[in-house]
Amino acid sequence: MRRLFSFSALKFISKTQQIIPPGYSLSLSLRAVPASYFRTTSTDNSKQMDLSDMRKKYKGDEESFEEDQLTSLDPIKQFGEWFDQAAKCPEIGEANAMCLATASKDGRPSARMVLLKGYSNEGFRFFTNYESRKGKELEMNPHACLMFYWEPLNRQIRIEGTVERIPRQNSAEYFHSRPKSSQIGAVVSRQSSVIPNRQYLREKNAELEEKYKDSEVPIPDYWGGYLVKPNLIEFWQGQTNRLHDRIVFTRIKEGETELREMQHQAEGGWVYHRLAP
Ligand SMILES: Cc1cc2nc3c(=O)[nH]c(=O)nc-3n(C[C@H](O)[C@H](O)[C@H](O)COP(=O)(O)O)c2cc1C
Repeated sequence: MRRLFSFSALKFISKTQQIIPPGYSLSLSLRAVPASYFRTTSTDNSKQMDLSDMRKKYKGDEESFEEDQLTSLDPIKQFGEWFDQAAKCPEIGEANAMCLATASKDGRPSARMVLLKGYSNEGFRFFTNYESRKGKELEMNPHACLMFYWEPLNRQIRIEGTVERIPRQNSAEYFHSRPKSSQIGAVVSRQSSVIPNRQYLREKNAELEEKYKDSEVPIPDYWGGYLVKPNLIEFWQGQTNRLHDRIVFTRIKEGETELREMQHQAEGGWVYHRLAP
């Protein structure tokens, strides 16, 4: 396994050296950056990549994100505003891609990307396999964190909340709105289970394509949507000189009648405060 990886890495490097000008090297996002980013330091038995000089310029202070620039004191509407801007930004390929963090019952975290498929005052919706690792973790521990990072806009949104399955009918409607090949893909893949090889998937896919060629693909029991019901939404706007803006909305808890120090009233059952970056 180790040897295979080194071999393909070498092949990759020798290929890329043909197209990258001298003095430049590849960053993780495959952009050409000065080779000085990749100073290496030796330890006893391995080399470490030193990325300490790798940083980008953020916006100037005149473009800072002040509380009076919030489009709305309702954080769902504020999310909508930033989401629409991200969706319109030509440099952002998938504005609805978000990192979903879950944790096992004993608090061991795991994270992966999923696609946001809808949002409302109730929460944020995504679809997946209920028997996948994330699915199992959510059944045991129904708390999750969602994270959007829109790099060209220097923005990040963190959403924390409790998670529940959406009604079966809604999952089925979405399932059948997808292209047939995606529906079959969802049936084929017992997500996160160990399989022998890729050929296994090809054969199962071909089998199901034949089986359902003239009929509707039934939604599998193990596939559907989840709703993340937010209790915290943080808007982060990156700035120059690292004085980033962080405005955090939290839901007013039951029985809470007074604002805490430096907390402000928002809308729709939310309050907000600012955090140091
Ligand atoms: C941009 C992107 C979007 C993805 N969207 C989804 C999704 O909406 N649902 C899903 O189940 N997996 C999606 N995946 C795959 C997941 O990241 C992950 O590999 C899969 O859900 C299994 O995760 P788990 O084993 O942690 O449960 C996406 C991956 C990427 C890179």
